[in-house]
Amino acid sequence: MTGPCEISFQPIGRRISVPVGTTIYDAARECGVELTSACGGEGRCGLCRVEPVSGDVSEADAAELAVVGAQADDGLRLACRVHIRGEVAVRIPETSMLSGPRLQVAGVTVPVELDPVVVAYQIHMAKATLTDPRADLDRILDALSEQHQVTVTGAHSDVIRVIGDSLRDNDWSVTVFVREDHVVGLAAPGATPLGLAVDLGTTKIAAHLLDLTTGENLGASGVPNPQIVYGEDVISRLEHAYRNPEGGDRLANVVREAINGVAHDLIEMAGRRPNELVDACIVGNTAMVHLLLGYPIKQLIKAPFIGSSARPIDVAAAGIGLKAAPGALVHVPGAIGGFVGADHVAMILASGIGLAERTILGIDIGTNTEIVLSKAGAGHLTATSCASGPAFEGAHIIDGMRAAAGAIERVVITDVGVEYKTIGEVPPIGLCGSGIVDAVAELHRHGIVNPRGRFEKAHPRVTMGENGAQFVLAGGDVSGSGRDVVITQHDVNEIQLAKGAIHAGVEILLEVTETPPDDIDAVIIAGAFGSFLTIDSAIDIGLIPRLPRAGYRQVGNAAVVGAIRMLVSAAERQRAEDILDDTGYEELTVQPVFGRRFAMGMLLPDLQRNRDRGRTR
Ligand code: FES
Repeated sequence: MTGPCEISFQPIGRRISVPVGTTIYDAARECGVELTSACGGEGRCGLCRVEPVSGDVSEADAAELAVVGAQADDGLRLACRVHIRGEVAVRIPETSMLSGPRLQVAGVTVPVELDPVVVAYQIHMAKATLTDPRADLDRILDALSEQHQVTVTGAHSDVIRVIGDSLRDNDWSVTVFVREDHVVGLAAPGATPLGLAVDLGTTKIAAHLLDLTTGENLGASGVPNPQIVYGEDVISRLEHAYRNPEGGDRLANVVREAINGVAHDLIEMAGRRPNELVDACIVGNTAMVHLLLGYPIKQLIKAPFIGSSARPIDVAAAGIGLKAAPGALVHVPGAIGGFVGADHVAMILASGIGLAERTILGIDIGTNTEIVLSKAGAGHLTATSCASGPAFEGAHIIDGMRAAAGAIERVVITDVGVEYKTIGEVPPIGLCGSGIVDAVAELHRHGIVNPRGRFEKAHPRVTMGENGAQFVLAGGDVSGSGRDVVITQHDVNEIQLAKGAIHAGVEILLEVTETPPDDIDAVIIAGAFGSFLTIDSAIDIGLIPRLPRAGYRQVGNAAVVGAIRMLVSAAERQRAEDILDDTGYEELTVQPVFGRRFAMGMLLPDLQRNRDRGRTR
C-alpha cells in the first residue's frame, strides 16, 4: 500500500488517514489523541505502549523489544516506533492514555426491599475431637440448624475443598454463605456477602459492587468493552467469532477478563476479599450474552436471528472466569426476542415501565436501539429493536469520537460564530454523540442544511473539505489537534440513517399496538448517550418524537440499575421473569411499511409544525 491509510484508535473511536510510514505516535498526535510519553517519541521511556490488533505495521527491532520487555509477548508495541503500512486498528491501554473515555456507570435509582438470594450466617463450632468426629460439613450444617434454625442440606463441591482450612484458620468461627439449601462459600467471622451487578454493553462495561446484607453500594466502575477491537457493532463481532476458529473463545476471554478485572478492583477498593463475592447479575444484549457465555452464535448472524436460549440462567462464576466464592453463581436474565436482551429487561424493570397505568415509550439508544411501549390498559408491553449503528457513538463520523476529553458535547450556532463545550473543557479534537446531534439540530434550525440534510445555505463556516461540504465547528487555530473540527455532509447523512431507523421503530411500534402518538404520556430515554443528549436537539432532528402530552425523562444507565435490583432482591428477579412473559417482540424488518417509514424518518422535520404540535395539550 502506498497512499494514505486509515488508522483507528480504540476504545475512544478516533480515526484518521495518514500517509504510509507514519508512526502510530504521530498519527495519534495528529488527531488529538494524547498518549503518555516522557521522551517525546524517542523510543526510550516506554510509556506510549499500544497494541496494534489488526493491519500491517513494521516489525519491532531489538531496541524496541528491550524497552517493551515481557509485554511484547502480549502484542504491545511502542507507538513511537511502529510505522503504519496499511489500514490499522490500534488498542490504547488505559495506562497509555492521558485521559480515557467517559463511561456512564450510574442511573436513576429507586429503593428496593432487600431480599438477596444468598444469606450470611455467623456460626461458632466446638473443635473436632476424637469423641466428636463429625465431618466438617456436617459440623457446619448442624451449627446452622442449632444456632439459626435453618435447614441446609449440602454444599457445592468446590466449597467442600476449602472447608477444612477455612474452619481451622478461623478457629472454628466462620461466616457461612447459603443459597437456598446449599452452602456456597465460607469467609472469616463477621464477613458480609458481596454482589456484583454488571451491564455488559457493546461499547462499555459498567459494574457496581454491593453489600447484600445492607444494600450499600460499595463502589462503581466502568471500562470500555475490550471486544471493540474485533468490531464496533454486534454483527461484526459475531462475524469475527463465527469466521475465526478461535474467534468465539477470544471474544469470550477478553470480556470475561475485563469483568473479572473490574470486580477485582472494586473488591480491593472496598477493602474486601474475593471469597466474599457470592452472587452476580450480568445483563447485556442477546449477542453480548451469547459471546460471554460461549453459546453458539452461527444462527444469530443470519435471518431469522434466533438465539440459542432466551431463558434466564444461573452459571457458575468460576465458569466465566470470575474470582468469587467457590459456589457463587452468576444470574443472567432472559431475553425478549431478536437482539432485545437481558439489558432491556433490566431497563424495563428499573424504569418501572409497565407498572403505571400510563402509556409510556422507553428508548435505549445505542449501536442497537431497543424500544418498548407500555400502552395504558393493554396489560402487556411490546418491544422491538433497530440497527441504528454506531454513529451516535462517534463512529462513521469524520471527526467523531467517543465521549472523552476534547470531545465537543454541546454546540450552539450564533450570529457571530459557534459556541461549543468540550468534555474536560480542553481544546476540541472531535465530536461525541450528543455534540453531533446538537450540531445537526443547529444546522437544521439555521437552515444551513435543508430537510433532506443537504448543505444549501451559504454560510461563512461552510467550506469544501477533502470529504466534500463541511461546516467548521472549531478552526485549527483553536482545536487540540491543529486541524479543523468539522461536521460534513457525510456526517449529517450518517445521523439521518441512524435516526431514520429509530424513527421507523417508534412509528411501527405505535402502529402495531394501535396507539395514537398523542396518547403517549411519557418518553423514557435510557443509556449513556441518551442521558447526555439535549432533548430539544433530539426532537428537532426527529430522533425522538415531539409529543403533545409526553414528559421526557433521562434515566441514565437503567440497565445496570435493573441488574442491581435483581442482585439484591429475589422478588425483583421474579419480576424480571414476569416482564419476559408479559413483553411481546415485534421484528421490524418483516413489516411491509418498514422501508417507507425508514425513508420518511431520514428527513429532518418541519420545525414549526413540530413545535405547534408540541404546544397542543
Ligand atoms: S514516547 Fe517514549 S517510548 Fe514512545
